[in-house]
Amino acid sequence: MALREALTLLCSLAVVCSSGNHESCELKPGLFDSLTGDLKVAAECSDDSSLQWSSEQAAEVLIHMRNLTERLQKRQLKECQEAEPKMCQQPEAPSNGGLACVTASNKRYCKPICDSGYDFSFLRRSRLFEECGEQTNYRWSSLYVGGNRLAVCNKAALQISSRPSAYFTKDCLTTKSSSEQWNTTMEVLLKELKDEGVTGNPTYHCLLCGRP
Ligand SMILES: *[C@@H]1O[C@H](CO)[C@@H](O)[C@H](O)[C@H]1NC(C)=O
Ligand SMILES: *[C@@H]1O[C@H](CO)[C@@H](O)[C@H](O)[C@H]1NC(C)=O
Repeated sequence: MALREALTLLCSLAVVCSSGNHESCELKPGLFDSLTGDLKVAAECSDDSSLQWSSEQAAEVLIHMRNLTERLQKRQLKECQEAEPKMCQQPEAPSNGGLACVTASNKRYCKPICDSGYDFSFLRRSRLFEECGEQTNYRWSSLYVGGNRLAVCNKAALQISSRPSAYFTKDCLTTKSSSEQWNTTMEVLLKELKDEGVTGNPTYHCLLCGRP
């Protein structure tokens, strides 16, 4: 039986395959491993001539990458939406950086962190966190007026506007992709909150990465 017929047969048996393109995803276990494996090889081949794609092919790759990037980023930004207190809107993660957030004593705390090579536009050495809770009328404290923007990360040769813990070793997604680095970032945040006298059992830990 031809592959296509086999797939069609499988799909007619399975309710999950109701839409046109759906089956190729459902029927591809290990897609994550093969995709990230191939992408890594392509991304890390430093000699551009070894990416022997025509300009047409390169454009097609860019289309699919753009689509996936947008969808994955959208989903990433939804990950912390359940956090309490619900009356606080989700703050905007800065481009070229991110926000590490937890909830404690009915308040949401978010610490802006810039990627390596970027720095905050305002001095914030004594202001590691922004917060949202009853005392702030469920709006975000911020050096920026109005809205949910907590920080801006600008390209900079020196990182001097905040404390060393407010910068990623590399970048937000690299930290997020490693459970060890994620854990370290959170542990540092929890210690800093404790040092500032924030009590209560922290919940809804979340690391949000901004758009690149
Ligand atoms: C990605 O592609 C799918 C399938 O073609 C399409 O439905 C979706 O709108 C695209 N999304 C973006 C963000 O381009
Ligand atoms: C970090 O890892 C340690 C050891 O596995 C664990 O006890 C701790 O709860 C983790 N921290 C967070 C914030 O998840």
